[in-house]
Amino acid sequence: MSLVISKEQIQILYSAETIATRINELAQTINQDYKDCESLVVVGVLKGAFIFAADLVRNLNLPCQLEFIRLSSYEGTQSTGTFRVYDLTLPDLHGKDILIVDDIVDSGRTAQFLLDFFNKQAGVKSVKLAALFDKPSKRHADHQKINPDYCCFTIEDKFILGYGLDYDQRFRELPYVGFISGLT
Ligand code: IMP
Ligand code: MG
Repeated sequence: MSLVISKEQIQILYSAETIATRINELAQTINQDYKDCESLVVVGVLKGAFIFAADLVRNLNLPCQLEFIRLSSYEGTQSTGTFRVYDLTLPDLHGKDILIVDDIVDSGRTAQFLLDFFNKQAGVKSVKLAALFDKPSKRHADHQKINPDYCCFTIEDKFILGYGLDYDQRFRELPYVGFISGLT
């Protein structure tokens, strides 16, 4: 069941400025790690990562190709345990270095599926995962080994929204990330 929530109930956890600073720092690390790479494909996971992917690529100093795929695993504040694949259409990835960009790693199901999926693509050179948030305490027993290669913020078990993340498809447009007391 989802609750009716108004913007006034949201408490800010990370301001737009804090997020921008951290994404810039993360991008510098990625720039360094991929400095000799001419075949980077950044794959944003819709819908949640649309703002993060847009801000991250604008801080990269690398030749890169941008692709988007669309999956969904959440309803309300709970991971449904299964997820729906809406769009996995991708060009030929032979010889490419893949950087998956997702909003948050929670149970790790989505990350596991995507890492397996890209690692199985013929001729792919490397596959890494960048996440804006990581909630390691929520990791499912089957996905304990999932650990983003790049992560902006590690958070406790709290349901967050804004900056791409939604609560029942709402609040993605907020420039900050917040939470609502009592919502986990
Ligand atoms: P996982 O497959 O359980 O790791 O879930 C990953 C997906 O669940 C993320 O890409 C988000 O779309 C969504 N999700 C997980 N935690 C939150 C949250 O706190 N707020 C909003 N969406 C979340
Ligand atoms: Mg997502």
